[in-house]
Amino acid sequence: MKAPTFKVNNGQEVPCIGFGTFGSDHASAEEVMESVRIAIKNGFTHIDCASCYGNEKEIGLVLKEAMDGKITGNKIKREDLWITGKLWNDKHSKADVIPSLKQSLADLQLGYLDLYLVHWPFPNFHPPKCDVSTRSDKAKPFIIDDFMTCWTEMEKAFTQGLVKNIGVSNVTIAKLDAILPKCTIKPSFIEMELHPTFQQPKLRAYAQSNNMAIIGFCPLGSPNRPDRDKVDGDAVDMENPILVEIAKKHGVHPAVICLKWAHANNIIPIPFSTKERNIISNLSAVCEDELTKKEIERLTAVDQNCRLVKGPVFLWKSAKDWHDLWDEDGTITI
Ligand SMILES: NC(=O)c1ccc[n+]([C@@H]2O[C@H](COP(=O)([O-])OP(=O)(O)OC[C@H]3O[C@@H](n4cnc5c(N)ncnc54)[C@H](OP(=O)(O)O)[C@@H]3O)[C@@H](O)[C@H]2O)c1
Repeated sequence: MKAPTFKVNNGQEVPCIGFGTFGSDHASAEEVMESVRIAIKNGFTHIDCASCYGNEKEIGLVLKEAMDGKITGNKIKREDLWITGKLWNDKHSKADVIPSLKQSLADLQLGYLDLYLVHWPFPNFHPPKCDVSTRSDKAKPFIIDDFMTCWTEMEKAFTQGLVKNIGVSNVTIAKLDAILPKCTIKPSFIEMELHPTFQQPKLRAYAQSNNMAIIGFCPLGSPNRPDRDKVDGDAVDMENPILVEIAKKHGVHPAVICLKWAHANNIIPIPFSTKERNIISNLSAVCEDELTKKEIERLTAVDQNCRLVKGPVFLWKSAKDWHDLWDEDGTITI
């Protein structure tokens, strides 16, 4: 099975589903490595990586196996893979961006990335496996000049051919309003949290009108996300009665309907799974048996504006709570 592709504004083609690689503090680097191997064996060619997931070296071994023909029996060409990487929050300074990218390239055993994202718009670091109360003394709010210092290095990485696309993640309309006019090379991608109970219609429309392709993270509602991202009352997409009913009609798991919803809305979902049967059904979701117009409309009504990855660990001293990260009144919170 091979995923259809989605045309990006610059004419490049990106596979319309990717494979997530965040082990959510429970799947080890070795387990994620094995999951990526299974995903590639079953036809995934788009892999969503990040240095902070702590598993790029292991994934690099699998990518090499794939290109050596040791996974599918055929040598997969580099140009037939789509590999995304992300710059972590403690590497935003002028001196750090390109060295950090080069470290990811070395770990992934690649000469270039298809897409490099600034993972978060804050330079605020938190250690892996931290809990919800963790705060860094050095944490700062979004500061446009600091962000543009980082973005200028991203542009250099593009110009030097180290990456084929550059993009942003976890940004808001207010932040994009500040960023876009200052870019020499504008982001061609945005990665954001998207699942049926969190549809972000305004940000999606803004991204599309600014020619950014949209990658949706936590596309299944991330049932095994880290405890720091769990709050009483969070929606559970895969248990939503409308999703369950539509899934029954199609004879599939509700996870598959989450992915079909994303696909029908021109979102590129990046589900993670450790189980072969789930990996296969996730890829099939975007290859066959589309939702009807009526079903798509019913799923629009499932939105509860329920953000799961709230990001409290990125908060700075004067911030009130996690809502401050997301500029909910339309202005940048400082
Ligand atoms: N840019 C960012 O800041 C950001 C933030 C968060 C995540 N991400 C990216 O987005 C990716 C996906 O997000 P996520 O991993 O948090 O959540 P997700 O993909 O929404 O959910 C993954 C979970 O769903 C289960 N699952 C997968 N397929 C299933 C199926 N067909 N049926 C039933 N259960 C299924 C998996 O369990 P099993 O292993 O048991 O299948 C896994 O624990 C990450 O891996 C990462 O690459 C990016």
